[in-house]
Amino acid sequence: MSGRKEVRTAVIPAAGFGTRFLPASKAVPKEMIPLVDKPVIQYVVEEAVSAGLRRIAIVVSEGKEAIKAHFRPSPALEERLEKTGKNDLLREIRALSAMAEITFIPQKELKGLGDAVLQAEEFVGGEPFAVLLGDTVLRSTCGKSVAGQLKEVYEKTFSSVVASEHVPREKIGRYGIIGGCPVPGEEKILEVTDLVEKPSPGEAPSDLAVASRYLFTPGIFDELRKTPPGKGGEIQLTDAMKGLLKKEKMFARIIDGKRYDIGNKEGFVKSTLEFAFAREEMHEDLKKFLLALLAEENGTR
Ligand code: G1P
Repeated sequence: MSGRKEVRTAVIPAAGFGTRFLPASKAVPKEMIPLVDKPVIQYVVEEAVSAGLRRIAIVVSEGKEAIKAHFRPSPALEERLEKTGKNDLLREIRALSAMAEITFIPQKELKGLGDAVLQAEEFVGGEPFAVLLGDTVLRSTCGKSVAGQLKEVYEKTFSSVVASEHVPREKIGRYGIIGGCPVPGEEKILEVTDLVEKPSPGEAPSDLAVASRYLFTPGIFDELRKTPPGKGGEIQLTDAMKGLLKKEKMFARIIDGKRYDIGNKEGFVKSTLEFAFAREEMHEDLKKFLLALLAEENGTR
């Protein structure tokens, strides 16, 4: 327990080769792939900021220069937008580099998610902090961002909290899976009793998956430092959390939100369609286009 009330720091791991999205992710970081017109990492930073986490570290590996450039001011672009009277765009571009205080931390060797988070230890400085995976967008369905939902649980428990959601049995092997006990009077909060990284359905303690957002007490760093490589030969955040569980209470918050995993091709295509469909200016056109596409397919089969 850290005893501190205010959580103001977010760590966003955005290292890794993005192998599930090759060849697109060879030169373009997968976190820079857009949903309609906004790169995934921007949605993630916006989520952190909306939860009051304005002190942000993005952990990057080599080849992720585009992420840095995205959040850096661009005087030449701003001048052009100003001269051409594109004021809405100008406001948006300026807001982008002003929305948070972003520090970039290198991960020199790609040793896994746990190791990426460990690189931010000094930056975090002994405070509770959130972790938001940089390749996943979480759209809230309750007016409060998912990072905000975790913060709310932390403010009641002063313990680590992990975002979770039920997943179908055939997808269990893709996630960290949580075992837990109900908390009296709380429908959406469980006390975590077990965690297993990417188990087979037979070994899984439940169908509740770790859903890309976490809030940790600084105790996680002691565990990360002694966590050996696990599943896939990588230092797994899930394994360090299991260590923390032996020392501190941990909770899972079943999220009010929808998760869009852009780190794989199918997830990207589906998310793009859904986000575009939700845009008023594109909705009707896209609907006609999709219906025509389906009619064409039905006609040729
Ligand atoms: C990571 C974590 C896993 C978690 C998943 C989605 O896996 O290791 O526990 O369930 O993110 O949040 P990855 O998708 O990086 O393989």
